[in-house]
Amino acid sequence: MPPRNASMLPFLVFLLSSSSLATSSHTHEDFLRCLSLYFEDPVAISKVVYTSNNSSYSSVLHFSIRNLRFNSSTLKPLVIVTPTDLSHIQATIHCSRHHNLQIRMRSGGHDFEGLSYRSVLPFVVVDLINLRTITVDATNRTAWVQAGATLGELYYRIVEKSRTLAFPAGSCPTVGVGGHFSGGGYGLLLRKYGLAADNIVDAQLIDAKGRILDRESMGDDLFWAIRGGGGNSFGVVVAWKINLVEVPSTVTVFTVVRNLEQNATKLIHQWQYVANKLPEDLFLAAVIRRVNSSQGGNTAVQAIFVSLFLGKVDQLLPWMHGSFPDLGIVRDDCIEMSWIESILYVYGFPRNASLDVLLDRSSQSLINFKVKSDYVKEPMAEIVLKEIWERFSDENMEVSAMSFIPYGGKMNKISESSIPFPHRAGNLYKIIHTVAWSEETASERHLAWIRRLYGYMTSYVSQKPREAYINYRDLDIGMNNPVGSTSYGQASIWGRKYFKNNFDKLVRVKTEVDPANFFRNEQSIPPLSPW
Ligand SMILES: Cc1cc2nc3c(=O)[nH]c(=O)nc-3n(C[C@H](O)[C@H](O)[C@H](O)COP(=O)(O)OP(=O)(O)OC[C@H]3O[C@@H](n4cnc5c(N)ncnc54)[C@H](O)[C@@H]3O)c2cc1C
Ligand SMILES: *[C@@H]1O[C@H](CO)[C@@H](O)[C@H](O)[C@H]1NC(C)=O
Ligand SMILES: *[C@@H]1O[C@H](CO)[C@@H](O)[C@H](O)[C@H]1NC(C)=O
Ligand SMILES: *[C@@H]1O[C@H](CO)[C@@H](O)[C@H](O)[C@H]1NC(C)=O
Ligand SMILES: *[C@@H]1O[C@H](CO)[C@@H](O)[C@H](O)[C@H]1NC(C)=O
Ligand SMILES: *[C@@H]1O[C@H](CO)[C@@H](O)[C@H](O)[C@H]1NC(C)=O
Ligand SMILES: *[C@@H]1O[C@H](CO)[C@@H](O)[C@H](O)[C@H]1NC(C)=O
Ligand SMILES: *[C@@H]1O[C@H](CO)[C@@H](O)[C@H](O)[C@H]1NC(C)=O
Repeated sequence: MPPRNASMLPFLVFLLSSSSLATSSHTHEDFLRCLSLYFEDPVAISKVVYTSNNSSYSSVLHFSIRNLRFNSSTLKPLVIVTPTDLSHIQATIHCSRHHNLQIRMRSGGHDFEGLSYRSVLPFVVVDLINLRTITVDATNRTAWVQAGATLGELYYRIVEKSRTLAFPAGSCPTVGVGGHFSGGGYGLLLRKYGLAADNIVDAQLIDAKGRILDRESMGDDLFWAIRGGGGNSFGVVVAWKINLVEVPSTVTVFTVVRNLEQNATKLIHQWQYVANKLPEDLFLAAVIRRVNSSQGGNTAVQAIFVSLFLGKVDQLLPWMHGSFPDLGIVRDDCIEMSWIESILYVYGFPRNASLDVLLDRSSQSLINFKVKSDYVKEPMAEIVLKEIWERFSDENMEVSAMSFIPYGGKMNKISESSIPFPHRAGNLYKIIHTVAWSEETASERHLAWIRRLYGYMTSYVSQKPREAYINYRDLDIGMNNPVGSTSYGQASIWGRKYFKNNFDKLVRVKTEVDPANFFRNEQSIPPLSPW
């Protein structure tokens, strides 16, 4: 489901012959015949395979689409497979290879560019929605979670076992662990515990040959690559084994809003110096957002400060007063609750909502949106923030937000090459640029606005490369080949932004495990050319 609050929105050589590009019903029927031969249980095929003339095809396809921009895409899969057994995935890989069909894996469907369910080449969606078993071992503080589970489902199953165990992943409950952990995955615990991918200890993966691998059998390099190298490059992740982390039984949250008259710009300016140096137990994000209201001009633009503190209010207040007195946090701003309640709170559910909302995978409303990311290494001058504020005052925009996610803490202590996610020490914070709108006719206006803003920001953010977060997939940031992959040279443009020097190792691993580039999309890791 989209966040209640849009500002909370929180990533070759083409070996097939061109004749395979043609969509023929031939291929399609041959593919289905192949599946029926390879499915161990032929009855299952009628339960998990949806072709375009099946009456449920559309609802299965649309159920996990999270961006209205791609809801009416004409680039639809020939077939959707919703495996209930690993053998179904193996059969799908085998038959797709054999009949030159591309595979797009989908777990939660939150890919910002819709790459898990649209492609210009004839393709099959492997939708992991039926593989979402979660087994929590509270004694050993670990869990196995299947790729099709959502973060909400994972959090729910963890607190069922213990209210003082948690997992440092994203704040949107409908995000899928399959894509999210593959690209890193962060949430409000990142300064204390790092990313979701930093806390993965084992995985089950099916490779291009259909082999079922675990950490030991896949080897160190492939296990490294799948923890942050992005989805749809190395194989189908079936499940992750994760280390759970400890949280106190009481945490404290606050959300305060400041407008221009309340010195919002100055506060954001100060925030840049403060937030990345706070104790690891204290997360304090800042957001500049334009609220969707009939009010025009500056009043529609606000600064919001959102905090999660792993402790009680009595400990939080002196820290806030000592390090950020001008924000003026008082006891009444703060609410003590459990960690799981803070997940609901930050997402914007009402205070009395039942935890069951975490299990709701359905989308309640669908909006168009575009997201871009940046990393900041030097504080921006107040004049830059004033210019940003001006841009947000544009009355032609419905909803826009710039969210500042503080780094520091644990993020500084993990080396850049520990996993493929490279954005560590040296970053003060990450920026999430978001625009959202309701009517397709407004698309161009909003896309142009966010691209202009991104252009304006060039001098004030990381450079050479201008870093970006793979889970905030952005097809604007380099050359993409719509037929599914790019040459090494083209890919290295976005590849270095997402992965810095880890890109080269990702390419080496890809060349070793999937030299024919079976698993691919517009921004998947390319193998080196065999010639
Ligand atoms: C509303 C919203 C809130 C978000 N909040 C956060 C946040 O707080 N923190 C954060 O870090 N990110 C956040 N994101 C971004 C999110 O982490 C990425 O979009 C992530 O890739 C989504 O994973 P998914 O499984 O839901 O998406 P999908 O669209 O299913 O998959 C994303 C990519 O991974 C591939 N993939 C999916 N499943 C598998 C699998 N099993 N094996 C291999 N590859 C696979 C897909 O093919 C696709 O390329 C948010 C996104 C949205 C839309
Ligand atoms: C559609 O596909 C589903 C799942 O494979 C199957 O149960 C159903 O019978 C199919 N319906 C039609 C009308 O073919
Ligand atoms: C549609 O269904 C009919 C009969 O149910 C089948 O013969 C045909 O192959 C199907 N077409 C496609 C494109 O799946
Ligand atoms: C998305 O597309 C489906 C299928 O065309 C349609 O039923 C649904 O209403 C659309 N959703 C929105 C919000 O437009
Ligand atoms: C915890 O791990 C140990 C060692 O790996 C194992 O023997 C034990 O069975 C695990 N505990 C539970 C509850 O599974
Ligand atoms: C804004 O800043 C000025 C100058 O520092 C200060 O005098 C004033 O009290 C502040 N206003 C608010 C609402 O905090
Ligand atoms: C929460 O409170 C609102 C009004 O305060 C009420 O309408 C709603 O039904 C309540 N929800 C639950 C789950 O109790
Ligand atoms: C903005 O508000 C208008 C009018 O209330 C509404 O129709 C539209 O859906 C809103 N847009 C977004 C992106 O929420």
